[in-house]
Amino acid sequence: MQFTVAIDGPAAAGKGTIARAVAQRFGFAHLDTGLLYRAVGRRVLDGTPADIAAATLKHRDITREDLRTPEVSDAASQVAALPEVRSALVLFQQEFAKRDGGAVLDGRDIGTVICPEAEVKLFVTASAEVRAHRRWLELTKAGHDVEEAQVLEDVKERDERDSTRKDAPLRPADDATLLDTSDLPVEEATDAAIQSVARILGEKT
Ligand code: DC
Repeated sequence: MQFTVAIDGPAAAGKGTIARAVAQRFGFAHLDTGLLYRAVGRRVLDGTPADIAAATLKHRDITREDLRTPEVSDAASQVAALPEVRSALVLFQQEFAKRDGGAVLDGRDIGTVICPEAEVKLFVTASAEVRAHRRWLELTKAGHDVEEAQVLEDVKERDERDSTRKDAPLRPADDATLLDTSDLPVEEATDAAIQSVARILGEKT
């Protein structure tokens, strides 16, 4: 069975948590597509030209442990604006989406560009302040010494870059279900996402 769940939205809106929960609940495979851009950004920081880094990306590049630092977040957002980087990553994502047994992909352009035919499209968002606070907590827990105000500035800068780039900008697909997690506990957001998937899956099977 092919069944694709596309989950898009800005940084730290809760996409990853929701995507993992949906994948686990329905036994679908999950791809965090941000990791692809992070891995390319990491390789660029290490000296590889962006187009080559994207065209020769290996599994070991996306399983590195140092892909969540603020430095890599910024590099990822910059390489994500390059059309040659995006086009090198399209096919892998589309093939992942079509795998037998169902797939959940989370990112920025899954419902609009990568899988416009996805059975379920969710756009998960939250205010910049709430997202920055979540990201700051994550970073602090992981031992990074960062100011919350700086994280908020970075989040806003990345939002701006991701939403205004020419190629595949961050925006909800016309037929996406919006999920604002600003005032919604993560369990409730996850339940809402699972219900959306269950409804469509029930209609299909
Ligand atoms: O979701 P994330 O923070 O790990 O994503 C890192 C960067 O990659 C982010 O700035 C936007 C970019 N990205 C993208 O352009 N398209 C995607 N499908 C996923 C991520």
